[in-house]
Amino acid sequence: MSTFAELWAQLAPVGRDPGTGGYLRYAYTPAEALLRDWFLDQARGRGLAVEQDGNGNLFAWWGDPAAGDAVLTGSHLDSVPHGGAYDGPLGVVSALLAVDELRARGFAPARPIGVAVFAEEEGSRFGLACLGSRLFTGAVDPNAAAALTDRDGVTLAQAMGAVPAGARPDLLARLGCYVELHVEQGRALVDLDRAVGVATAIWPHGRWRLDFRGEANHAGTTLMADRRDPMLTFAATVLAADAEARRLGAHATIGRVQVAPNATNAIPSLVSAWLDARADAPDTMEAVVAAVYDRAQAHAREDGTKVSLTAESVSPETEFHVGLRDRLAKVLDGAPVLPTGAGHDAGVLSALLPTAMLFVRNPTGVSHSPAEHASDADCEAGVRALADVLQELAC
Ligand code: GLV
Ligand code: MN
Ligand code: MN
Repeated sequence: MSTFAELWAQLAPVGRDPGTGGYLRYAYTPAEALLRDWFLDQARGRGLAVEQDGNGNLFAWWGDPAAGDAVLTGSHLDSVPHGGAYDGPLGVVSALLAVDELRARGFAPARPIGVAVFAEEEGSRFGLACLGSRLFTGAVDPNAAAALTDRDGVTLAQAMGAVPAGARPDLLARLGCYVELHVEQGRALVDLDRAVGVATAIWPHGRWRLDFRGEANHAGTTLMADRRDPMLTFAATVLAADAEARRLGAHATIGRVQVAPNATNAIPSLVSAWLDARADAPDTMEAVVAAVYDRAQAHAREDGTKVSLTAESVSPETEFHVGLRDRLAKVLDGAPVLPTGAGHDAGVLSALLPTAMLFVRNPTGVSHSPAEHASDADCEAGVRALADVLQELAC
């Protein structure tokens, strides 16, 4: 039986950028393929039968899933650009080790237990967060998804080698509940002095693309009065997003920008920027996006530019199943319950079946960055907690 440290060490080098220490594990790239192969080996080594759903998602089964009312756990293996090691893989590794732990306890599940790997959870390659679970549950049209492109113009269908299968009601019907373990993306558990917590809710969140269009021209010869510079409108919009989020008690981030022609000595013709907005209520999130767009349009009028807004990935508020959450907190000796501003496949699945999440303490509180961390001792506590939960649900 592998220890947490042994299994974790196998993943550590895969897709790691030696310069930043962060991970580049985008969906359907060689690094992610290595992780998927590793998962298939791990499943095989445990005698778990693996199913694929035609949407890039993998399911490894202990017991016959056709029996129904299955208890599903797992997470994702892809990362954000230069992301941390734990966001996603911790849930997959912990799920495999929880199966080992339950077998070592001599537990014989009365319900099938599945370990899932969901594809493109971060949406780092094709822009739509939780793409694998959205396809699986029918929340996104497979033909529309097939046409999504990455930064090099490669479509999802090309990357997958096929149009995704889309909704799999046959597979969904066999699931009784889903529990995803995840590294905490904040410092609540540090402050509470607890290794493991239970999620209550996910904030509504989304990504919008802002395209600022102006006029490309010479940096040296164009009079300041004659310019139509979309970079100015973009810059003012970044400040507006920060101000509006603070004013409304929400979160807004512009963390990605693309400039054309991206030349030092030319005024740009186009600046595209991605706004990530989140709040504790949908109205607040929508108000932030509307206010940012209003202010962007006002700046565009002053700058002689144009701006448009396109929603690329919007996720509604998720309230996790209260009965399941309370049952988990009780099994885990009154584990604290906390909300999160981060998105998860559990949020997508919660629209269709009872769903819950466990969080493992992150002493840095940092996530989507190489500084993301959890101690081996806390990860082992997470494995035991997940095993306790699976034992409670599958008996
Ligand atoms: C994914 O982790 C997200 O919250 O964007
Ligand atoms: Mn993430
Ligand atoms: Mn994640």
